Amino acid sequence: MPSKTEGSSTGPAKRMTMSKEYKRTLITTALPYTNGPVHIGHLAGVYVPADIYARYLRLAGRPVTLIGGSDEHGVPITLKARAEGVTPQDIVDRYHALIKKSFEELGISFDIYSRTTSDIHTETASEFFRRLYDKGEFIEQTSEQLYDPEAGQFLADRYVTGECPHCHNPKAYGDQCEACGTSLAATDLINPKSTITGATPVLKSTRHWYLPLDKWEPKLRQWILEGHKEWKSNVYGQCKSWLDMGLQPRAVSRDLSWGVPVPVEGAEGKVLYVWFDAPIGYISNTKELLPDSWQTWWKDPETRIINFIGKDNIVFHCIVFPAMLMAYGDNFQLPDNVPANEFLNLEGDKISTSRNWAVWLHEYLADFPGKQDVLRYVLTANAPETKDNDFTWRDFQARNNNELVAILGNFVNRVVVLTHKYYGGAVPAAGKIQDIDTQAYAELASLKESLTDNLENFHFREALKDAMGIARMGNKYLQDCEPWKVVKTDPERVATVINVCTQICASLAIAMEPFMPFMSAKLCRILGMDKVEWNEIGTELIAAGTMLGQPELLFEKIDDETIKAQTDRLEAIQKENALRAWQPAPVQKECTIDDFQKLDIRVGTVEECARVPKADKLLVFKINDGTGKQRTIVSGIAQHYVPEALVGKQVLFIANLAPAKIRGIVSQGMILSALNANGSLTVTSLLSKGSDGAQVK
Ligand code: MF3
Ligand code: ZN
Repeated sequence: MPSKTEGSSTGPAKRMTMSKEYKRTLITTALPYTNGPVHIGHLAGVYVPADIYARYLRLAGRPVTLIGGSDEHGVPITLKARAEGVTPQDIVDRYHALIKKSFEELGISFDIYSRTTSDIHTETASEFFRRLYDKGEFIEQTSEQLYDPEAGQFLADRYVTGECPHCHNPKAYGDQCEACGTSLAATDLINPKSTITGATPVLKSTRHWYLPLDKWEPKLRQWILEGHKEWKSNVYGQCKSWLDMGLQPRAVSRDLSWGVPVPVEGAEGKVLYVWFDAPIGYISNTKELLPDSWQTWWKDPETRIINFIGKDNIVFHCIVFPAMLMAYGDNFQLPDNVPANEFLNLEGDKISTSRNWAVWLHEYLADFPGKQDVLRYVLTANAPETKDNDFTWRDFQARNNNELVAILGNFVNRVVVLTHKYYGGAVPAAGKIQDIDTQAYAELASLKESLTDNLENFHFREALKDAMGIARMGNKYLQDCEPWKVVKTDPERVATVINVCTQICASLAIAMEPFMPFMSAKLCRILGMDKVEWNEIGTELIAAGTMLGQPELLFEKIDDETIKAQTDRLEAIQKENALRAWQPAPVQKECTIDDFQKLDIRVGTVEECARVPKADKLLVFKINDGTGKQRTIVSGIAQHYVPEALVGKQVLFIANLAPAKIRGIVSQGMILSALNANGSLTVTSLLSKGSDGAQVK
């Protein structure tokens, strides 16, 4: 939490790191793979922070372009298409449309959201490759690669799985081990298997183009390690470790049919590696948006480029793409900052598209209509800026109810209601200013400074705390001034207090806009504000006499049932996943016929069955075991059967198990049942009626 002094003008040195005044800022957001919808992890890591930053710059009157788009190539998409029996184009069309629409609904203010299957991208990426090829920037090399003889196809990246040579995770992919995070080459895997046919791949030689990253290593070192010490420590640290390990040439083409074809002769059946073409998508999308001026946004040193990404993208944005841009030349500018975030977990577990362990944006929007800002707020308040963080539905509810409703909504509502009650909705003019009023303005100024500073430095969590600080301060001011009491004795004083409160509300509307644009727009409407500027925070924005709109609730409480519906859904998914991962237990150590015969397994008929009082798992059985005497057996299956349903049924039981006392009842044996994949129990019975007391042989 920034201290008060840090924000005040007399405080210690500011943390502002902008070394130079830039004319414009180009903000890019990692292009999401179009093999599924986007989830809260994507939002918290990339899109919400990027949008906050873009909106802040716009309010500050600084030229900005926010670039987004879908990453539509790569193996995960072709795998998904194969699994569904449709074409890769079908897959990307479906998810591109879904992702684009849900980003719009969440208020992510992209200037363009395009896609890497566009013509302009194919042209741009081909031209990029061709220029590097013509300049002799690639190494051409023939090497042995994994090939699936059954499918007749090379197995690039995720087309192959096997054991990780580092951590021995048995399910590592051909490009990366998700367990230890190491990036791999398919040929590194131990016991590789084709994900298409399950076949063991063979080695087959093939020719590819490699970008010699080692050639750019000195320049990259200089640029990052010397020139960008201000980068976030997680980003700087990862870059340093890559550079210290020494860079190797990297293949930029693949033997696949889905992607941008390699634009040289004799390269049939080869496409650009997805990590070569995707970042060029930032350029293609800028071109599509600004056909005449895109070059200014990429090549003018007075443009500042910021890449918002997640931590798994760091090497591509800080090492590979910059090396590509250096190799291309022609004044392409490198990013000035890459504020990568860590990961967001969900209820303590890693978010996973394949395990459906996620809160999907499009589902959230359907389940919580009109509550876009709540999600934006919670994801920012809990953003994984410096370490992995956890999203829980309880925290979501608590932040909505205790912060948005109780602090922000409550303050604004009280001010608007009081203005209507005392002044018919017309903002009163301020009278004589007292110390407490001056102090409120001073605090506002200090919060504004800290807020601005935090935004400039990509500390969005802290920035949001500052913005909320304005509402907290407003509440406290109102509470201290007690206009509802003072109104009886000093109505002029009340006019001043309400005026000051209205100004605080107006500042709040601006300060919150980057974080919660829908709430901000509503508040601006109530306050009769149209065009707003960042600079105006802390000033007197609302003229006396302005008619306020009717009080409207900015936020509403979220009840336990709503939250339970979400946690129930997650529980069901957890069960499904456990079921899918279930495998029959390994067969036990071999036994002899003598071992088997030690167990006296018999047939018996259930004559009585009842719950054991105060034991929710236990049933007590009276079994006809053919001896003429009833046998008592206690069994832990009460959660799977109602007692009445078992009466009259034949079961198998162990007759010679040593008796045991369970809850005061002597149990003489054990009823046999099977433990199923979903955790349920099935009592073992006979296919046709047997004789009570008959032995199982
Ligand atoms: N699709 C990649 C991912 O989801 C990100 C691509 S970023 C780009 O991890 F720069 F390559 F576009
Ligand atoms: Zn590993």
